[in-house]
Amino acid sequence: MSERTALVLGGTGMLKGCADELLAQGWQVVLPSRRPEGTLGSAAKAALRGRGHVPHLSQAQGEKGGRKVTVAADWAQPHELADRVREVMERPADLLVAWVHASYRDDVLRAVAPLLAPHAPVVEVHDSGAIHPVHGVPDPALDGHPTQQVVLGFVRHGGKTHWLSHEETSVGVLEAVHRALDGRPPSVHQVGEVDTWLMRH
Ligand SMILES: NC(=O)c1ccc[n+]([C@@H]2O[C@H](COP(=O)([O-])OP(=O)(O)OC[C@H]3O[C@@H](n4cnc5c(N)ncnc54)[C@H](OP(=O)(O)O)[C@@H]3O)[C@@H](O)[C@H]2O)c1
Repeated sequence: MSERTALVLGGTGMLKGCADELLAQGWQVVLPSRRPEGTLGSAAKAALRGRGHVPHLSQAQGEKGGRKVTVAADWAQPHELADRVREVMERPADLLVAWVHASYRDDVLRAVAPLLAPHAPVVEVHDSGAIHPVHGVPDPALDGHPTQQVVLGFVRHGGKTHWLSHEETSVGVLEAVHRALDGRPPSVHQVGEVDTWLMRH
């Protein structure tokens, strides 16, 4: 059985590298998303274990005993999402990583809060576009869970700006994960460049 469980919301897109790294380190990684099947590569599909009676669930085995469990769920139904995650969790989550669009964030994080171990750390990832021009970075969504916040910016290259690559994003979020697991005080970090006026607020 995996020793530690991470719940990663929005972990099948640009944060896939972050989720894969946790899996490689032996974590049980639970990934709710709308299209879970599409997240599995051929190696993962080959490793699928039969759970045919649960149509919204699939699993893959990682190295070091890690286990990836993908669950079909939508942020628009946060309580159903939490119920589906609860079905597959062997124990309360030791870590929550949340890349959830701002309009769903509070409802989804509150719905999954009962699935977390007491004081389990949280890493919240924000798009810089979601930072309020007056109020700045939102307060952490969950009281009682030390929260590292990450604001995703952009990269300037040869006079042009572009989004962070998926790898740059995953590396930046993994650094926040390590700060969280090391028990560092709650903080806000940016990855790439972010409008400095926004970050002052
Ligand atoms: N500052 C930056 O660098 C930055 C910021 C934002 C976006 N981008 C760029 O824009 C591209 C697209 O960004 P994106 O926002 O689509 O992020 P993404 O990380 O590519 O995908 C979003 C993640 O959230 C899940 N998700 C989305 N809506 C959901 C819902 N209603 N319910 C449950 N899960 C949901 C997706 O899975 P499902 O689709 O399976 O549900 C996926 O896991 C990125 O690839 C990136 O290149 C860059």
